[in-house]
Amino acid sequence: MRIVLLGAPGSGKGTQSQLLVKTYRVPQISTGDLLREAVASATALGRQAKTAMDQGHLVEDSIVLGMIRERLARADAANGFILDGFPRNIAQAAALENLLAELKQPLEAVVLLNLDLGILFKRLTGRRICEDCGRVFNILTSPPGTPPHCEKCGDKPRLLQRPDDREEVIGKRLEVYDAQTKPLIHHYRENGLLRVVDADADVATVFASLQRAVQGS
Ligand code: AP5
Repeated sequence: MRIVLLGAPGSGKGTQSQLLVKTYRVPQISTGDLLREAVASATALGRQAKTAMDQGHLVEDSIVLGMIRERLARADAANGFILDGFPRNIAQAAALENLLAELKQPLEAVVLLNLDLGILFKRLTGRRICEDCGRVFNILTSPPGTPPHCEKCGDKPRLLQRPDDREEVIGKRLEVYDAQTKPLIHHYRENGLLRVVDADADVATVFASLQRAVQGS
């Protein structure tokens, strides 16, 4: 499996990637996660990325491409990968095509998780992350229970909000998606790789549609 999951912030790329990883045993490669790790380790690259991320802008292509090149070269990606949140603009898509041609691992499909703006907003404002294990909850769509409980960390998990999930940043991220990432839908439709999945359903239903989309490729 060599696929890209495409979709607006909050469309469910991370959630669905986790299920694909479990089912197909190929790694999820999320540029968002790689960047957040760099930010948490306070590397020079992380400090540079943080400013853009906190404001809802894209991080510079050169930084992201360097990360992707390094990650795709690792042994576990030799049998396939799920790209989550990459590429994010036409320049990144062109660079990916060249890189995968070099690696002789062309993409098999690009799956768009399609969701209305109002629902995206609700999913993003409600997202909370367990500070200890990183599990993703949503206080609006999949609450952690009353009292809150995390399967791994037990009762009263410390739930954090991502800095870019604040309302004022979400608007910017959605704007950036429209301007820079949405053109990829046309790009991948033109080259025959695009599959579209309705992401306005519960997690299991979306996953079933996603599997059909991937297997049809
Ligand atoms: P990134 O981390 O990639 O964020 P994103 O694309 O904005 O996507 P999200 O992680 O917000 O959402 P998601 O689609 O994964 O949804 P999730 O499954 O979590 O990027 C962050 C930043 O890093 C960017 O803004 C940019 O600055 C930088 N960056 C990253 N990649 C870059 C690149 N290639 N180039 C340049 N810069 C880059 O779900 C969201 C919520 O909804 C969760 O609470 C979840 O529990 C809930 N949920 C999920 N599915 C369902 C469902 N079916 N029903 C109900 N609730 C659901």
